[in-house]
Amino acid sequence: MPRIAVIADIHANAPALEAVVDDIERQAPDEILVGGDLVGRGPQGSRIVDIIRDLGWPSIRGNHEDYILNFRNYDVPDDWLVADEWAAWRWMARELEGEHAEFIDALPFSRTADTVPDLRLVHGSPRSYKEGIGDWTSEESIREHLASIEESLLVCAHTHRPLVERFDNQIVVNVGSVGLPFNGDPRAQYAILTRRDNDWEIELRQVDYDHDRVYEIYRESGFLEDGGLTAEILRREVRTARPYLVPFQKWTDIAGRDFNRDAFEAFLDLYDPTESMGDFFERARRHYQEE
Ligand SMILES: [Fe+2]
Ligand SMILES: [Fe+2]
Repeated sequence: MPRIAVIADIHANAPALEAVVDDIERQAPDEILVGGDLVGRGPQGSRIVDIIRDLGWPSIRGNHEDYILNFRNYDVPDDWLVADEWAAWRWMARELEGEHAEFIDALPFSRTADTVPDLRLVHGSPRSYKEGIGDWTSEESIREHLASIEESLLVCAHTHRPLVERFDNQIVVNVGSVGLPFNGDPRAQYAILTRRDNDWEIELRQVDYDHDRVYEIYRESGFLEDGGLTAEILRREVRTARPYLVPFQKWTDIAGRDFNRDAFEAFLDLYDPTESMGDFFERARRHYQEE
């Protein structure tokens, strides 16, 4: 019975990854795959690349690999190269040394497993690494994704929320996030998939790690100071396991506010991180139309 561990969305959080590596070594699966977003949204991109490369765990590319590479190549809107809002991204792009950037630039978008013929790993969905599959995705759309692959098991990530859905003889598993979960559980999360009697057994795992160490690394590395409000918001995401940065960025557009601390306080007055993002943006739009 082949057992395959899949980890994803590490987001430059080395204490979380190290705890998961220890847990995987105890579990001793036959194969380990990495589902992308190794870097971005955190201060230790180079360290993560070193760990994954030294372990030799095959990886695919997430949207954050390209996000950071685009910053490194100045292939972003002009104001992202100067605005405070993007200081943390410029910091993360500088932090990634040349050889580490080359490593992530060589990652493929998708891969299969060596120990079983019927597993397909993608970062978001089979058609885009920016399209997450979550409990808000319609059954029709999940069936389309499953019909687009030849394998019985579709493994994905990107939403930072674990999910298991079965349709006929196929399964979709979202493995959740190692370094930045958004499901309210701040532990590092991943999945072990066991092929048994022509079916799959799915185990979603949660691993405790030292969050204080992450906050220390934020300070010691200079990420917190140089990354400003964005780094503070990312630290809040690590602590709460809830999304704040993207909802806040979209809220500034809806509310017509700049990206700064006063605006973030006003955002917190309205925001409920347990609400779906779609519902929140709808509520925010109504709120500012009425004013
Ligand atoms: Fe991610
Ligand atoms: Fe992603």
